[in-house]
Formats: sequence, C-alpha cells, structure tokens
Amino acid sequence: MTPVQLTVEDAVGIITVDKPPVNAISQSVRQGIYDAVTAINARDDIQSVVLICEGRTFMAGADISELGKPPVPPFLNDLVDHIEASEKPIVAAIHGQALGGGLEIALGCAYRLAEQKARLGLPEVKLGLIPGAGGTQRLPRLIGAENALPMVAEGNPINAAKALDMGLIDKVSEGSLREDAIAFAKEIADADFDSRRLSLRPLAEVTDTTVFSDTRIKAAKRQRGVLAAEAAIDVVELSTQVSFKNGAAKEREWSLQLRQSPQSAALRHIFFAEREAAKTTDKHLGELPNIETIAVIGAGTMGAGIATFFALAGYPVSLLEISEDAVTAGMQRIEGNLQQSVKRGQLSGAQAQNTLALIHPTVSYDDLAETDLVIEAVFERMDIKEEIFGKLDRICKPGAILASNTSYLDVNQIAAVTSRPESVVGLHFFSPAHIMKLVEIVRTEQASAEVMAALAGLIKRSGKIGVQAGVCHGFIGNRMYQCYQREAGLLMLEGASPKQIDDALYDFGMAMGPLSVFDLSGLDISYMMRKSLPADQVHPTAFQVHDQLVEMDRKGRKTGAGFYNYANNKAEEDAFVIELIKKTAEKCRVKQRTISNEEIIKRCMTALAEEGEKILAEGIAQRASDIDVVFVNGYGFPRHRGGPMHYSETTQPSTKSRSAENPVQR
Ligand code: COA
Repeated sequence: MTPVQLTVEDAVGIITVDKPPVNAISQSVRQGIYDAVTAINARDDIQSVVLICEGRTFMAGADISELGKPPVPPFLNDLVDHIEASEKPIVAAIHGQALGGGLEIALGCAYRLAEQKARLGLPEVKLGLIPGAGGTQRLPRLIGAENALPMVAEGNPINAAKALDMGLIDKVSEGSLREDAIAFAKEIADADFDSRRLSLRPLAEVTDTTVFSDTRIKAAKRQRGVLAAEAAIDVVELSTQVSFKNGAAKEREWSLQLRQSPQSAALRHIFFAEREAAKTTDKHLGELPNIETIAVIGAGTMGAGIATFFALAGYPVSLLEISEDAVTAGMQRIEGNLQQSVKRGQLSGAQAQNTLALIHPTVSYDDLAETDLVIEAVFERMDIKEEIFGKLDRICKPGAILASNTSYLDVNQIAAVTSRPESVVGLHFFSPAHIMKLVEIVRTEQASAEVMAALAGLIKRSGKIGVQAGVCHGFIGNRMYQCYQREAGLLMLEGASPKQIDDALYDFGMAMGPLSVFDLSGLDISYMMRKSLPADQVHPTAFQVHDQLVEMDRKGRKTGAGFYNYANNKAEEDAFVIELIKKTAEKCRVKQRTISNEEIIKRCMTALAEEGEKILAEGIAQRASDIDVVFVNGYGFPRHRGGPMHYSETTQPSTKSRSAENPVQR
C-alpha cells in the first residue's frame, strides 16, 4: 500500500504521509507526494491543500538507509520544486520533528503551521552531509543567513516558538493540528502566494558577512575535521551571493559528493549503531522490574555526577555517604554541577532547585530499604565493595537491583557475596557522569535478562546511551583503551615524543592525545589499576616510563607535572621526560628511531581493533558496532571516523588475520 493518501474535505485536499516509525522520505513517500501534488492541481474540487503526517512525527528526513545507494527518482529536489510550483497553496502541518528533507519539503510549501512541541532543523551535517533539495538556499531566503547558518552548519533543530519568531513558520497550532491546518488552508485558499515561493526570492539577506568567517573559526574547533561543516557554511554563504538556481546546483553537487564520502558512511554507521546498541538480543522476556527510585553510594566526583544525572532525568535519588560531612560535600558537588548547567544556559535557576530537591542526602543504609536501584560508586577496592554489597543484600527489598560503578573490577565476584546474583550488575559511567553519554551495562554471569532490559530502558529514557558489556578486566572500553595506551607507550620508547604522539592522534580527530589523557586523569589511577593485575597481564616495557613518573610524584596535572610540565599553567614539553624515555628505552634495549605520524595512527588504531576482535570473540561485546558506540561516546574517538571497528574495517581490512598471528599483552 502506498504510504501517501489524498483525501478531500470541504475543498481542502489533504495529503497524508504514513510511513512508520518516523515518516522517513523513502522513494515510495517521494513518489506518493509527487503524484498527490500532480493530482490536486488537476482537480477542480480542491482549492488549497494540507500536507500532514500520521504517527509520532512529521517527516524526519531522507531515509538514511537509502543514502549509501544511488538515488532513485523522483529525487527529493525535484519533489520540493514540484511542491513549490503547485498552483494550489499547500500548508505543511508539522508535529514532532520536521528534519532534513522533511523541513525542505515544508520549505517548498507555501505555508507552515506547527504544533507547540514541534522541532524543525536541518541535521544533515551530523551525518556528514548537507541538505540536497534546496534547503540551504530556501531557508536563508526565508529567515536570513544569520539565522539559517547555525541551523545548517551545526545541525541543531529549533523549537516552534523560535521558528515562529524567525518567520520559519506562519502559525503555532495550540489545538488539533489537523483541524487548525484545515481551517488555515481555507483561510488562505484565495490568497496570492507567489511571493512565498522561496526559490523566486532574490539573494538571502545578511547584515554582517563576518558571520561566515566567525562560523568557520567555530566549526574548525567544534567540528574539527568534519568536511560537511565547511561545505555547509560555504553553501549558505552562496545563498547571499548567487541566484537560487546556481546556489541549488552547487548544493546538489556537494551533497551528492558528500553522500559518497567515508565520513558520511562513518556517521551513518554510528547513527544506526547507537540505536542498535539499545536493543536486547534476549528473547522471551518476563516482566521487567520497575525502576522509580534510585540510590547512589559514595558522593565523590563519580557518585555526585551519577546522582546529578538521575535527578536531572526526574528520578528521586538517595545519596549515601559514611559521614554527615562527606554527604554535605557531595551535595555541594551536585549543586556545583547544576550551577554549571545554569551558567551554560542549559537549565533555569528554578529547574536547578527542583532537581536538587529530588536528592535526599543520608548516612543510613536503612534509608535504602525500599529503593529500586542502588548504584555503588566508592573506591576501586574489592574488599570495600564486597562489604557494601553484603550490607545492601541484607537491607534492600527483594528484587531491588544492585549495581557497581566499577570501571574494571570483577562484578561476578561482587555478585557472589549476595544472595541475589541475578540482580547484581555493573553500571560503568564515564566522568563527568552527568555529561558523558555512555554507560556500560555490565552483564554478570547470573544477571537476569529482565534486569538487563530494565536497565537498558532506564538509561535510554534518561538520555544516555547504554551498551551491554560482559565481565572482564576493564569491560569493553577500558580494556581496549589500555591496549591503545600500551601502543602509545611503545611508540614513545621507540622514539616518538609524547607531544608527537598526542598531536598525531589529536589531528586524527581524538578529543585528546593518550599521554595528555594520562596527565589529566592522573597517572596514579592507571598505576594502581596495573598493580592490581597479575604481572603477566601487563606489558613488560610499555608502561615503565609511566610507573617511574608516578613514583617520582609526577602524577599529571594535579601535581604540576607528568608527561608534560604545567609550571606555567599550560602543558609544556619537558626535557627531563624526554631524557627519562631515552634512558628507559636503553634499559629495555629498545632502539630509538624516527617515527612517522602515519605509523603512530596506524599502530594505535590497530591495537584498538585487534583487542576489539578478541572482545567480540569472547562475547564481551554483543556487536562490533557496540564497540564503536563505546569509543565515540566514552573515549573521544572522532565520530566522523565511525569508531575503531568501523575505521579498521574500512581502512585496514586485514586486522582480523593479524590479530590471530600476533597475540599481544595489554
Ligand atoms: N531514516 C531512516 N530511519 C530513521 C530515520 C531516517 N531519517 N530517522 C530515524 N530512523 C529510524 C531509527 O533508525 C529507528 O529505527 P529502529 O527503531 O529500527 O532502531 C527509528 O527510526 C526510531 O528512531 P529513534 O532515533 O530511535 O527515535 P527517537 O524518537 O528517539 O528520535 C528522531 C526520532 C527523528 C529525532 C531521530 O531518529 C533522528 O534524529 N533521526 C535522524 C534525522 C535526520 O538526521 N534526518 C536527516 C536525514 S538526511
């Protein structure tokens, strides 16, 4: 059945699109709308038209799954031109999201009406693309280049109130969208709407052309290396310089080129990978445990961050510490987190207060008796964790889920001290926990499928990305990151300086180089972690420089020195460290040589992919794409490279065989 229907009500033609789940504009949708527009123009019983969608949203853009394939007619740009050329005025009635091609179709309509909660945007840049159906030329001609530029270059949607303010929509519907749209279509049935054909408008207005250079500077920082961001800015600038026809032709050309780019393939991969990660592979689930109340044990940076996050998501949270002083300090940390969000304009003062009111500080375990989910976030010491879980097992109600925020300890061992191992899991948050998107949901041997599904649902509802991981030292992320750091350590001994390694990987797109990460997080943390491992599980030479630095009290930024020197409040290369590396290399009988940046990138990426293959083979990760989601959302891996597994698969397809030949120590 065609996903597009044409009906008529009181001389108003109603084109309804119904293509679940998000009315993506696949070929059948394009064809259906095209034919419906042709039909309305041929019918005398129709004076004006409403274009509306069924389901949860207006059209959420081109069908992303079609983007890697050759385009099939009718092309979206031809469809939008066809809509704009209609002799009968068309009103786009928008609910949910009008995104990408959805907004381009709405821009082809003579009028736009939107529900209060609707959001409108051109997010193509987030998929490594630019719009390809005239959106970058029509939008600035409608709302001015200054307003259009961030929408195209950054890809963030705006709400209906802002859209009304800018003139992107003509009216906000406060009642029934369908009824309001029909009434509006009747009102404008006889109006002259020639001037509303945006492609006929002269150049887009811009008050100050420095907006383009300013946006380029901003994009070079925030969207480092993303080709589509540069193209997006260039193409919006064209709307202020050349005719619609010429601008649209350039837009189409660049859009088609970007569709073929490895960056867009990588970004589309990660789009679907993030959605896939949330899906359970368990069959025949029973009733899921309800999670309405949460407790966090430990109010340090992690615990306070986790409590902040769940309170922001609207959950009442008990925050438990060993003393009144400690819990008060924890509440202050949370207040600090919230104040930062207020400063950044992400939260109003009243919202911050309401969020804080959801947190109940306590020093008594008895207060946790009725809590649905308890998350322990104390020191990484097994004996302390075992004691806490024993206590929780005695106090918490049957069915309550007990989780540890450990980043590498054996959660099976923790589960074993309880009488309810089916309800014990790991929930590994990343710091700062109220900001970082990723959570590894660590599945212990006996964790029930229902507990896993309930937690996956909670994490998704609360706005984070949960990835299931099996139990092993460091789970998915830290286990692989350790191998990446090992390779960086070896490269250093072989002659690459910390700065060369950091710069090469930063230029590759990592948020930070691996040695700067050590300095930021504190070299002592990984030192302690390595010491907790059996000696044969730590590479014999790769971390020798690191260990010596810790033993000299050079633990990174917090002590004023680590791989770099911070005496002048910025990271500066340190001759002492270079000498230490040289001596250590001699001691380890490693010959130093000149190393290229390409070698640095290749070896570090290979180290990640090889460990990723092992993790998959052991069933620690459910899918290769889950590993990509972990690295993009938890470890600063450049999104436009799709994650380490995607990168390896698309650039170094022989990783698998190398991995089998060359087993490596972490
Ligand atoms: N093309 C194809 N499939 C799409 C899609 C698109 N443009 N947008 C969403 N989907 C699919 C998702 O893959 C998901 O499929 P699944 O249920 O099989 O996993 C389903 O629609 C629901 O999407 P989801 O993101 O889980 O729902 P949501 O309610 O959280 O968010 C949107 C809805 C529309 C905001 C979000 O999906 C989105 O941002 N989509 C992309 C929009 C876009 O970039 N458009 C421009 C394309 S060039």
